[in-house]
Amino acid sequence: MEISVCGPADVALLDRHIASPGTLSFRARRFARQQRGESTCLLAWLEGRPVGHVEMRWLGCDAPAVRTARPGCPEINGLGVWPEELRSRGIGTALVRAAEGLARERGIATVGMGVAKDNPRAAALYARLGYQPLIDYLDRWSYEGPDGALRDCVDACAFLVKDLVRPALRNGRKPRCNEHPPSRQTRNDHADTRKVAAFHQQRHSP
Ligand SMILES: CC(C)(COP(=O)(O)OP(=O)(O)OC[C@H]1O[C@@H](n2cnc3c(N)ncnc32)[C@H](O)[C@@H]1OP(=O)(O)O)[C@@H](O)C(=O)NCCC(=O)NCCS
Repeated sequence: MEISVCGPADVALLDRHIASPGTLSFRARRFARQQRGESTCLLAWLEGRPVGHVEMRWLGCDAPAVRTARPGCPEINGLGVWPEELRSRGIGTALVRAAEGLARERGIATVGMGVAKDNPRAAALYARLGYQPLIDYLDRWSYEGPDGALRDCVDACAFLVKDLVRPALRNGRKPRCNEHPPSRQTRNDHADTRKVAAFHQQRHSP
């Protein structure tokens, strides 16, 4: 299994392998955010096929309640592994860890993620990975139906947070706390992600 940053050619490939509702797919919208420097989209690959994705949203969660509770906290979003037979083999964990690795490289101390109240298995995974509940909120999102009209959706969610800074580092290097990231992704981000991916490939090959 490999993890890489989503490239322009990967969006159509993703939509072919992993269904997405709407005329303008979720992946296209995520990639547009990456192009604007607002996020980094990571893909998991198995035998040349995309099997999972996650988006690190550097500008944080859209929900006002979360923004008030933890201003500037980047959000790990859009985690998914397909097809279902490939779940429970460590791919989701590897994607979350790779996203956390990107945050650490930027000196970010805390990251968060939302989980729907009706998704206890995902909540159990995030608890195992060290995420703790911060606040309940309503996640409002929309997608374009086949007729081009927007469909609005609301999910009851919990926002979870994780401190990425190990105690030993706190007294030493003084990491910057949730500083706003550079507006553009650097070449180094890609190189570092490849390194993280190689690491997880050794540890989590399904
Ligand atoms: C949640 C998800 C990304 C985890 O990916 P994964 O590759 O299965 O994760 P890992 O193998 O690293 O960890 C497995 C754990 O994920 C959790 N999990 C959540 N939903 C799961 C599902 N539908 N199938 C298998 N595991 C799931 C469980 O805690 C599981 O542990 P278990 O096997 O002991 O029950 C994946 O299951 C998925 O795509 N689910 C559907 C979409 C979704 O719910 N996304 C999360 C939105 S917050």
